[in-house]
Amino acid sequence: MAIRIAGIGTALPSKVLTNDDLAQIMDTSDEWIRERAGIASRHVGGLTSEMGVEAGNNALKAADLTPDAIDLLVLSTSSPDQRFPGTSAQIHAGIGLDCGAFDVNAACAGFAYGYVAAYGMMMLPGGPDRVLNIGSDALSTLVDWEDRGTAILFGDGAGACVMERHDQGELLAFDLGADGNLAPILYCEHGDTIHMAGREVFKRAVRAVTASIKTALGQAGLTPDDVDVVLLHQANIRIIEAVCARTSLPMSKTHNVLETTGNTSTATIPLAMERAESAGVLEPGKIVLMSGFGAGMTWATLVVRW
Ligand code: UT7
Repeated sequence: MAIRIAGIGTALPSKVLTNDDLAQIMDTSDEWIRERAGIASRHVGGLTSEMGVEAGNNALKAADLTPDAIDLLVLSTSSPDQRFPGTSAQIHAGIGLDCGAFDVNAACAGFAYGYVAAYGMMMLPGGPDRVLNIGSDALSTLVDWEDRGTAILFGDGAGACVMERHDQGELLAFDLGADGNLAPILYCEHGDTIHMAGREVFKRAVRAVTASIKTALGQAGLTPDDVDVVLLHQANIRIIEAVCARTSLPMSKTHNVLETTGNTSTATIPLAMERAESAGVLEPGKIVLMSGFGAGMTWATLVVRW
């Protein structure tokens, strides 16, 4: 049995905050942010549930399906609307689903974790035939707007895909990792804002993602040359460049959105996936590598035959 992605959908709030807008409220500049992070603007003002509903509905539309075709909803988020119920419940109601639903919190690696969890459940006897895997985060609601180290980086967004049993498409290998000892370098307490040791996160991220990609490619029995499409967590273009250099994956195979979205946490990989789809590179049989990292620290790499 194989599982393919039958439809991709995304959502971004309409309000755009440019680097120049940020320079009006804090000591920073468009030039610094572009140079150090590769970001020009980001979308803000989103609510995790609302963006999740919009992205989910768009993925259903792209797959030409109605909500009754979905057997399970997996939502990854680290900015849930409420402590409980899970925001998956609100999205479930918003889309009008009739199936199980649960939240995953693996921060920015959440979408890839959700993908593996969904894939595994689909493999079980009697498991779901179709899963709606959504990543939605509204980190602008958790940012300290006086902290130029984080405020310049994050934005709001959501991305979703419909996973369905099919003879096309396969998860060839995956690598999931976590190191809870690194929690202090990136965290957000209840009722507080995001705290991040940016330089340390940068260093650890490059190291973890590089190792994870090598592990997953090794498990799949593939080399970097075999990879057609690279979808990396969109946190900082310099992290993407450093990972590509260390894994021999050419930048030309990456598909990036961060210049206009900033770091949308768990939504970055599906947003990049939609960008790749628009570029026409997600053809059946292509080898697609996805890799994310985030608070935890967590990281996750998928090698998929499209
Ligand atoms: O989803 C996972 C989450 N997070 C990440 O992946 C973040 C990873 N980290 C990063 O992307 C980068 O560390 C940042 C973009 C956050 C910061 O870039 P950096 O090159 O690591 O800068 P830095 O923190 O080492 O700061 C360098 C200098 C400092 O000034 P001094 O001490 O050299 O005088 C900072 O005060 O740049 C200053 N600085 C800024 N200047 C203008 C820090 N932030 C800003 C800013 N505008 N926004």
